[in-house]
Amino acid sequence: MEQIASRPSPDQVPLLKVENITKTFGAVQALRGVSFTLERGEILALVGDNGAGKSTLVKIISGVYPPTSGQIFLNGQVCTFDRPAAALAAGIETVYQNLALIEELDVADNVYLGRETTRWGVLGRWLGILDRPSMRRHTAQALGQLHIKIPAPTLAVRRMSGGQRQAIAIGRALTWGRELLILDEPTAALGVDETEQVLRMIEELRATRGLSFLVISHNMQNVYRIADKVVVLRQGRHVATLRKEETTVEEIVAYITGAKESAFN
Ligand SMILES: Nc1ncnc2c1ncn2[C@@H]1O[C@H](COP(=O)(O)OP(=O)(O)O)[C@@H](O)[C@H]1O
Ligand SMILES: [Mg+2]
Repeated sequence: MEQIASRPSPDQVPLLKVENITKTFGAVQALRGVSFTLERGEILALVGDNGAGKSTLVKIISGVYPPTSGQIFLNGQVCTFDRPAAALAAGIETVYQNLALIEELDVADNVYLGRETTRWGVLGRWLGILDRPSMRRHTAQALGQLHIKIPAPTLAVRRMSGGQRQAIAIGRALTWGRELLILDEPTAALGVDETEQVLRMIEELRATRGLSFLVISHNMQNVYRIADKVVVLRQGRHVATLRKEETTVEEIVAYITGAKESAFN
């Protein structure tokens, strides 16, 4: 009797699979064929010198640009995100380097930005009446669970430190139940203590909630500490994928600078 092939269950396929992605902007070849997989609960660091193509790759994964060629799979399904909202709806939340928090708004308003809860259903939505008490309650609850110490959900973001802002941005992603968080240089603007808090938050969220992270960073010590896997880009080329336990900071840097040739050819 013939065996009917069953579909792979969600935990047998990688959460994210990037296959042979290329991107050209006019004469510039920003990406020349990048492939990697990100397993559920994995922390992947994307590294490379300025202009290597990191931000372009993240923008393709998060639906800002279409790739010139290649495919993205999420939970085994091919994805063609034609806009950021499509990636968001699929469970991919991206925290860009500038964070996109609105300085004058309070914490709750920032967490709910663009997805505000309105009172009185359809009519309220149409009139734009926000249910602030419920938004604040929900925000305080969500951030509280993350051990993010925010003075009060009613405090304007401009009065907060860099670490608190990063935490709010991550908290916003979590409030909406994402499974993949993409963080572009999450600690670049932070001091030593705040960097430590953000790194701990990433490690804890992976451990307690099984969240997956794709992190861009220039700080090799941080990368080496939190990443399970490191993908190195150089001038748009994918030059190495290294498992943390099989590499060193020196080797990662050698691939970034070109002192070490691509592992793939
Ligand atoms: N929108 C764009 N138009 C034209 N060229 C771009 C655009 N975005 C990025 N590039 C070019 O693509 C290359 C990779 O850039 P980027 O992805 O920003 O690198 P990284 O984030 O690693 O510093 C660079 O040569 C950059 O100038
Ligand atoms: Mg960049």
